[in-house]
Amino acid sequence: NKLFTYDPGFMSTASCESAITYIDGDEGVLLHRGYPIDELAENADYLEVAYLLLFGERPTPEQHRDFTKLIKNHTLVHEQLTRFFQGFRRDSHPMAVMCGVSGALAAFYHDSIDVTNQSHREITAIRLLAKMPTLAAMCYKYSTGQPFMFPQNHLSYSGNFLYMMFATPCEPYVVNPVLERAMDKIFILHADHEQNASTSTVRTAASSGANPFACIAAGIASLWGPAHGGANEACINMLEEIGTVDRIPEFIARAKDKNDPFRLMGFGHRVYKNYDPRAKVMRETCHEVLSELGVNTPLLEVAMELERIALNDPYFIEHKLYPNVDFYSGIILKAIGIPVSMFTVMFALARTVGWIAHWKEMYNQGGFKIVRPRQLYTGEKQRPFEKMEKL
Ligand code: CMC
Repeated sequence: NKLFTYDPGFMSTASCESAITYIDGDEGVLLHRGYPIDELAENADYLEVAYLLLFGERPTPEQHRDFTKLIKNHTLVHEQLTRFFQGFRRDSHPMAVMCGVSGALAAFYHDSIDVTNQSHREITAIRLLAKMPTLAAMCYKYSTGQPFMFPQNHLSYSGNFLYMMFATPCEPYVVNPVLERAMDKIFILHADHEQNASTSTVRTAASSGANPFACIAAGIASLWGPAHGGANEACINMLEEIGTVDRIPEFIARAKDKNDPFRLMGFGHRVYKNYDPRAKVMRETCHEVLSELGVNTPLLEVAMELERIALNDPYFIEHKLYPNVDFYSGIILKAIGIPVSMFTVMFALARTVGWIAHWKEMYNQGGFKIVRPRQLYTGEKQRPFEKMEKL
């Protein structure tokens, strides 16, 4: 073996230079283009944050208006793509459908397939950002058997998403502004997180010059796992399994037991060794949504008590394990009426802009290399091959 640096899981290897997102995991700081995540979540809308991530600066009011209009012009998906859904079983996991239909976009836009052409990249970015809510809502509608709802361009990005999810052709649907704002905040909180597994997957796929829609499908696949985006689904399942606060100590004990594979979902992070700043905003938003809806769920009580006990437990203190973005998000999504199987789709929808921002950055920087890690070979030494009949 030649001596390569051995760093499984990229624990200490920077894979690229990036000017999009900064994380100080020890201090619990997350900045997008220099702006703290909590200030963005409180004061900006998702498309403003999307613009910031994609172009490096906040939009002026005029740029914001034009960008929003441009996104709205691209919210429809090709009618033929709507028939692609029919190939899936209705009980498919929505993330399986998302992997398929987002990758299928690659088959539709032959006018912009030259990734070396900046204007092709720009229109691809807009299309992805605009169509992802439409595809996500279609996944849900398909699973319920209800008709797909066309996007409504007079609504906001998040309002339109709620409309496409919950409206039916039978009666008027009015978007609740508190839920619309909560949805927008959830999207902002998930928009980007530097070189996480799915973003690194998108960059890796793109490093070969692959079609960007296919690269995003690869990112969606990577996001699906319970250690990454699938944690929001796993977390709500865990909170439901715990059920009542008196059962928390049993689950805390299991999380600490090295012979038990169980982990507290929505807890711990590769980079944050402090409270995830997104989790703070998420917890506040959770209270706002439940109070607006008049929902009194035992899940919130279990989550808050679980957090309290874990944060005072020597194991969690020593291992620097804090709630992450997925800990409270599921309670909000469930209260809004989004089914658990759609939780990771919400993450994918929101993270699409981060994936595209990194993809664009790679190309704009230029000179990137195809991602081709080395390995430490542990297999057989060279040996002669005997023909089968001689064995
Ligand atoms: N519950 C109990 N113990 C944990 C947990 C947890 N949630 N997370 C980490 N640990 C322990 C782990 O057992 C290990 O202990 P020891 O050193 O004694 O063997 C130590 O902490 C380090 O864990 P690790 O797996 O080496 O850390 P990692 O950086 O590779 O993994 C993680 C990070 C997020 C995958 C992990 O904390 C985890 O599995 N958390 C639960 C899943 C989750 O909530 N994921 C969402 C992450 S945030 C959203 C996103 O990025 O997608």
